[in-house]
Amino acid sequence: MKLPSKVKIVDVGPRDGLQNEKDPVPAEIKIGLVHRLQDAGLKEIEVTSFVSPKWVPQMADNAQVMAGIQRKPGVRYSVLTPNMKGFEAAVASKPDEIVVFGAASQAFSQRNINCSIEQSIERFAPVVEAARAKGIYVRGAVSVALGCPYEGDVPPESVELVARLMKQIGVQHLGVADTIGVGTPVKVQRAMEAALKYYDIDDVSGHYHDTYGQALGNTLASLEMGIWQYDTSSAGLGGCPYAKGATGNVATEDVVYMLHGMGIETGIDLDKLIDAGKYISDFLQRKPNSRAATAILNKRAG
Ligand code: HMG
Ligand code: MG
Repeated sequence: MKLPSKVKIVDVGPRDGLQNEKDPVPAEIKIGLVHRLQDAGLKEIEVTSFVSPKWVPQMADNAQVMAGIQRKPGVRYSVLTPNMKGFEAAVASKPDEIVVFGAASQAFSQRNINCSIEQSIERFAPVVEAARAKGIYVRGAVSVALGCPYEGDVPPESVELVARLMKQIGVQHLGVADTIGVGTPVKVQRAMEAALKYYDIDDVSGHYHDTYGQALGNTLASLEMGIWQYDTSSAGLGGCPYAKGATGNVATEDVVYMLHGMGIETGIDLDKLIDAGKYISDFLQRKPNSRAATAILNKRAG
């Protein structure tokens, strides 16, 4: 066990959380969520994606959202860019970090970004080069690293292959993503070990959706390996439009509650984070999908 003493959380709620919402969420609400997250102490926020509005209409206001944020010093804002068209559109918004997103299965790659794994790497390569030339940090995501909605089981070797290809084109950080939330702790550790063949422990993160209620366990299993960076989503929002039935990311509130209880620092004020999650949940007219948020809100009410 080599538990980290500090953890960095990237709140992906504004992007991963909201991309799947059927009814449009106005840009001002997305901006309001970003502002509340940074006020709660989040230092990394995944704001939006520069993808085709035909594929993901909810993210069509990407530039408007980026332009509306009052940036807080010390906070880093990231956006998804699947190709040069997306990158060129994103540059004007001055992201601190971009994300290229590949997959550990051919079928998911095809459904999500309309190309094979190999073609995706060819599309990412110039994006990575252009971003790095501008000093923009490049993160990569490997979707369906623990299981695919179309192909089923995904072996660690497939994660290893994508990790190798991402490393070869200069992707600086690799996020191992359980897109449909089917992973369990030991399987997560095997996938992480595969990523660690090409990336340092300081350059990998876990991105766990909570569809099967495994995401906190998977986070703990990763913490035990020394992994200290995680993507989470306030109020447990989200899902991927191209992964039917998959629910949101693990709730930021639940992860922060667990980490603080373990004496691990996050720099996040849990109470303010609860307010951020309540803000977006109220807008969406539903309860936060977070046990910690529910418990704390009940306590406040009582
Ligand atoms: P394509 O159709 O193969 O692209 O889509 P194309 O290059 O053939 O272009 C077709 C049309 O799209 C053209 O427009 C392009 O201009 C336009 P037309 O001439 O027909 O009017 N286009 C774009 N427009 C805006 N921004 C762009 C862009 N690129 C082309 N960047 C593409 C390929 C990747 C664009 C498409 O498949 C797409 O947008 N996919 C989005 C998928 C997505 O956003 N999924 C959700 C995010 S990933 C995720 O949630 C997983 C993650 O959370 C980790 C995990 O949990 O696994 C990260
Ligand atoms: Mg995701």
